[in-house]
Amino acid sequence: MTETEKNDLFKNIFKKFNYGLYVLGGANSDSEDLIICSWVMQSSYNDGEVVINIDGDRPIYSLIQKAGIFTISVLGIDNLDEAAVCALSREERKEKLGSLNLGRTADDIPYLNNSLAYFECNYTDSVKMKSNVLLVGTPVDGEILSEGESLTLHDYYKLLG
Ligand SMILES: Cc1cc2nc3c(=O)[nH]c(=O)nc-3n(C[C@H](O)[C@H](O)[C@H](O)COP(=O)(O)O)c2cc1C
Repeated sequence: MTETEKNDLFKNIFKKFNYGLYVLGGANSDSEDLIICSWVMQSSYNDGEVVINIDGDRPIYSLIQKAGIFTISVLGIDNLDEAAVCALSREERKEKLGSLNLGRTADDIPYLNNSLAYFECNYTDSVKMKSNVLLVGTPVDGEILSEGESLTLHDYYKLLG
């Protein structure tokens, strides 16, 4: 198999993976950001850790490193509008973040008020990969905000293309 054939094969296999959809929130004193993420997972049953895989060049990564804290909002099937805003490129997103219904934690980190749930995490570590980083966090506060069906990556592509 050539390198191109291999890449295509793995891309097609990975498309069959399904994930939940979440919004990662970060802030410091003069800026804040929220981006959509599918690569979020609980990483232990008992120790309450989560891992998020993000591109290390995203501005939100430095916000999180400096503040040492971030939020995760869990998206529901009714959060397609919020998902679409948080998936925009950074310039377009900046203009649209004000249209979202945002709550803020005691540490002033934004989250989506109309998601299924949010939690705030202490940023405890990051693991560098080729271009991405794994952010490790320990949840310290949070709330269930509404009942409903979780939004998945496959729903997102079916509904928003
Ligand atoms: C459905 C979906 C899932 C995504 N999941 C992730 C993810 O897990 N990690 C990540 O770094 N980017 C992910 N992205 C990309 C970014 O959220 C999005 O492109 C980003 O907000 C663009 O930001 P930037 O201009 O600040 O780089 C995802 C995008 C979409 C559409």
